[in-house]
Amino acid sequence: MEQLREKQMAWLRQIHEHPELSYEEYETTRLVKQVLTDAGIQLIDTGMPTGAVATIGHGPGHVIGLRSDMDALPIQEETDLPYASREPGKMHACGHDFHTVTMLGAALMLKEMEDQLPGRAVVVFQPAEESGGVSGGTRVAESGATDDAELFLALHSYPHFEAGTLGIKEGPVMASVDAFKVTLKGVGSHAATPHKGVDPIPGMSALVLNLQTIVSRVLSPFETGLVTVAHAQAGNTWNVIPTEAVIEGTVRAMDQRVRERIKAAFYRMAEHTAETYGLRAEIEWLAGPGPVVNDERLCAMAREVATGLGFVIDRQEDTMGGEDFSEYLRIPHKRPGLFVRVGTGGGYANHHPKFTVDPEAMYPASVFFRDLAIRCMERGAEG
Ligand code: NI
Repeated sequence: MEQLREKQMAWLRQIHEHPELSYEEYETTRLVKQVLTDAGIQLIDTGMPTGAVATIGHGPGHVIGLRSDMDALPIQEETDLPYASREPGKMHACGHDFHTVTMLGAALMLKEMEDQLPGRAVVVFQPAEESGGVSGGTRVAESGATDDAELFLALHSYPHFEAGTLGIKEGPVMASVDAFKVTLKGVGSHAATPHKGVDPIPGMSALVLNLQTIVSRVLSPFETGLVTVAHAQAGNTWNVIPTEAVIEGTVRAMDQRVRERIKAAFYRMAEHTAETYGLRAEIEWLAGPGPVVNDERLCAMAREVATGLGFVIDRQEDTMGGEDFSEYLRIPHKRPGLFVRVGTGGGYANHHPKFTVDPEAMYPASVFFRDLAIRCMERGAEG
């Protein structure tokens, strides 16, 4: 297996040097498909130009899903790695190169023992996790290529743990991500004659403050939610009352029901605050992925496997970041999933220009996913 370890290192370097943005992962896809087909692994067509889905095994047991993502970010790399990005303004700053090669390793290991596999694995190399809007996870799940999987396992690089540590935690681990834009329509006028117009700025200001009460007054103190107004814009000079004001931001929650209650409160406040100030509110709501919620029985199995392999297990820190892995747990129907944080050291947070992964974490993570996949093929999500 020393050979696979070396090959993985070479693939990681190659993908890291040539990062590709969401839905542009052509070379990465070519490499992944080449390695898979060279190993005699069968691909399932998604009808998508980038990304790949493979199927391994023909045992009578359970069908399980393994998911990785492959896109990079529009960030100028500032590491001094010998294999730093050669593409200006593009960087694997979220470790999706690491995810791709880890799952590629797991796929090759599963292929080597295909005839003994108790069930079957559907292995996803997903494009466009970072895209926003309709992301790669939604498209792969909707393509039907992953319909057979009864449960799904995924990983994410985690710089706050060293290599050799895994973050495994029951329940919600990533938030739902919705984006909003509210345009408050008023009537412009001279700054000296406010009574001849309808100034959108006081209404916008009130709305920004009112929205802060959703988390503090609408949710229970034991519930988790977030409303951030990240952008506010109105007018462009000192002596003109503008015709409209715009705010944009994001709403996040760790629970689908909380997410829906925040949205209802948001609409109520936006519409009625606008009305109070004689404005009209136009609300655009862009629903992103739902919360990622880890299945308890899968967590228990993962802990067993990880302990057996000598990993240190830690509880991962909660985050309001989002992940479209949740799409596989929802489309075409609800199914259990597990999102594991793999310690990759380095210290710089994901999306930082100095973010790095410790490549030593890769091969052991592949072994972990191979073994957990086999355990799940035997037992399904029932544990
Ligand atoms: Ni990521």
